[in-house]
Amino acid sequence: MNSVDIGTGLFITLEGGEGSGKTTQGEMLNRYLQDLGHPVVWTKEPGGTDIGQALRKVVMSNRHRDMVPETELLIYLADRTQHVKSKIIPAIAEGKIVISDRYHDSSVAYQHFARGVPMDTLDFLFQRLAGGLVPDITFVLDISPETAMKRIEKRSISDPGSLSKFEEEARSFHRKVRQGFLDISRKAPGRVKVIPADQAPDKIFGQILDILTPLLPPTTSGDTNS
Ligand SMILES: Nc1ncnc2c1ncn2[C@@H]1O[C@H](COP(=O)(O)OP(=O)(O)OP(=O)(O)O)[C@@H](O)[C@H]1O
Ligand SMILES: [Mg+2]
Repeated sequence: MNSVDIGTGLFITLEGGEGSGKTTQGEMLNRYLQDLGHPVVWTKEPGGTDIGQALRKVVMSNRHRDMVPETELLIYLADRTQHVKSKIIPAIAEGKIVISDRYHDSSVAYQHFARGVPMDTLDFLFQRLAGGLVPDITFVLDISPETAMKRIEKRSISDPGSLSKFEEEARSFHRKVRQGFLDISRKAPGRVKVIPADQAPDKIFGQILDILTPLLPPTTSGDTNS
């Protein structure tokens, strides 16, 4: 599927709506793979680079609720282009495993399915600017917006700064995002695996590992002790 052949590493992405558990599962996976002896880069979009951190503040801020969809898309694509070219591709070329908390499928779900930006516009910018790199495997954490919102409300008590403009979007917006991710998985079933996310974190993680383990490269150290 991937038209871009850049090296021997592995590119894993975690996708899903707000509060679906991407960061929780990504942290677990990062630790697990490092304990196995793999060189891992655990990163995120937006904000996986210094430039991306600055873009993240602009695109996710509650002060920018009036941002038009095309501006939003261009900021995400700017973040992605910097991220792919300066961090993801070099790591994969060195044989590392890259785990990204969100990537291009989020743009398809949010900016195309939920905001209505035409798919050919996304495709063109992704291919021409961001390199068109396709992940080796993508896990979509699928959960109802109602359940996710309860989690987010709970999280915001301990971490008040974690709320972005997206959490304040209408329920209908979050339903479109969810359907978008499911549509992406239907169109690319080999790459995009849907994991029901309304389960205990360990159960979700076990299902991710069942799919991921056969894809892992051999470890160089051969030492599985942490
Ligand atoms: N399987 C789970 N069951 C119950 N609660 C969970 C589960 N996974 C994560 N949580 C909790 O739900 C909240 C949201 O999880 P997390 O931050 O991992 O989601 P996220 O997809 O990264 O969200 P965001 O899109 O906002 O970054 C956190 O407080 C987390 O501790
Ligand atoms: Mg997160």
